[in-house]
Amino acid sequence: MRNAQLTIDPAFTIGAADRRLFGSFVEHMGRCVYGGIHEPGHPAADARGFRRDVLELTRELGVSVVRYPGGNFVSGYRWEDGVGPVGDRPRRLDLAWKTIETNAFGLGEFMAWATAAGVEPMMAVNLGTRGVQEACDLLEYANHPGGTRLSDLRREHGAEEPYGVRLWCLGNELDGPWQVGHKTADEYGRLAAETARAMKLIDPSISLVACGSSNRGMPTFASWEATVLTHTYEHVDYISAHTYYDPSDGDRASLLASAVDMDNFIREVVATADHVAAKLRQRRKLKISFDEWNVWYQSRLQADLDRRGWVEAPALIEDDFTAVDAVVVGDLLITLLRHADRVGVACQAQLANVIAPIRTRTGGPAWRQSIFHPFALTARYARGTVLRTEPVSPTYPTRKYGDVPVLDTVAVRDEETGELSVFAVNRGSADLPLDLDLRGLPGLRAREHHTLAAGADPAATNTEAEPERVTPRRLPTPTLDGGRCSVALPACSWNLLRFSTHDSASAPRGGTPDRMKGAQP
Ligand code: AHR
Repeated sequence: MRNAQLTIDPAFTIGAADRRLFGSFVEHMGRCVYGGIHEPGHPAADARGFRRDVLELTRELGVSVVRYPGGNFVSGYRWEDGVGPVGDRPRRLDLAWKTIETNAFGLGEFMAWATAAGVEPMMAVNLGTRGVQEACDLLEYANHPGGTRLSDLRREHGAEEPYGVRLWCLGNELDGPWQVGHKTADEYGRLAAETARAMKLIDPSISLVACGSSNRGMPTFASWEATVLTHTYEHVDYISAHTYYDPSDGDRASLLASAVDMDNFIREVVATADHVAAKLRQRRKLKISFDEWNVWYQSRLQADLDRRGWVEAPALIEDDFTAVDAVVVGDLLITLLRHADRVGVACQAQLANVIAPIRTRTGGPAWRQSIFHPFALTARYARGTVLRTEPVSPTYPTRKYGDVPVLDTVAVRDEETGELSVFAVNRGSADLPLDLDLRGLPGLRAREHHTLAAGADPAATNTEAEPERVTPRRLPTPTLDGGRCSVALPACSWNLLRFSTHDSASAPRGGTPDRMKGAQP
């Protein structure tokens, strides 16, 4: 195989690597909340029932923003059920996941958890079974300082200061026939526009996300976005996108090229939004909130739901992610960064247990799944300005996407620290020699090469018994000679190459995680 080539020039920039690209998602689904982030009585739980081990892993993951409380769940949710004294809260049927919702965890608990985790909250309002009034009520309760019935109720419930939630989703996946309160694009567009207008009267500082399609394969994809944005463009700040890649069919070559699909998806949503802007003579460019994305063995879900009756917090879609899945997740993050000019928020779905980087056993330990690692390292080191890269790469054939490049890359330069981080995925089944040309960044030295390689054991997973089986390892640091170097990217691998202008690699802002300090060069 001939060498792949990558030239990096700081003159060609895409945009700032927004911290909000490293978001996650906590839905009342399965054991994400109950038994995941919240488990009173667990040896690691604090006085509020928050699992400290999960809080620590959330911080290590580098999550910036967390979307809550759904997901499909929000489309039948009454937010009032989750505030006030816990003992007075009703038990309800959650139609989305055929589950009994106890409401032991609600808005106040989520806000306290978000503060403890150091993340920004992103709330969703119910536009499935509810409408403008209930969304306004929730916003008044959350963000209005006081002196009104709902803001004073929040204060009675112990939160003197307003929560000041800045990011709000106008419902969830209302294009999907599975959604409680499913709507046509016109029905949803009108409702979203009116809800947005009213919410911004209460708090003009908020940013709003209109629902885009549930995935690129929806029969209404693109026309849904066009119609919804025609109604909402002037009132909203983002259009959402969701995507999950399912490895169940065993087509590994296509799975490894999932980022090609995500890349096309983003381009198409941007084109549709820009078309509507042109039609409406709007000069403001809309951004995408990619607020659900991940690998998900989706074919298992229906069986899970069919098998049982109404129960509390059942284990649901607790996928064990493989080393290959981790490479795919790393590549999806590369794609999100490459579109940093138009993707302003992104949330990996979900945070704990439910297709999640963090797994727990109820009453037992918490551990990092394989997909935890590329997320944590990208969130840690993708700081500064995203640079445009145009890799020259061999291609390989895939059933789903035709011939695709073996190599995918993005580079992020931190002007403050002088560091350059290059993220690279080798989708191929052989090692890939890569020639790097960094002559546009004089004075750089190579510092580290981390890799998460799936070639030797693609199906390896991390389990409670073996939680460290899939982890990144350090490869020998390459030597830059006159601004050039060659590195070998292992077969089927995600890679982080770090360069800096100073002698010792500075700890990233936020510090170096202890677990990486002992890594062997
Ligand atoms: O993340 C799991 C589910 O996937 C969410 O509830 C829904 O929005 C999506 O279809």
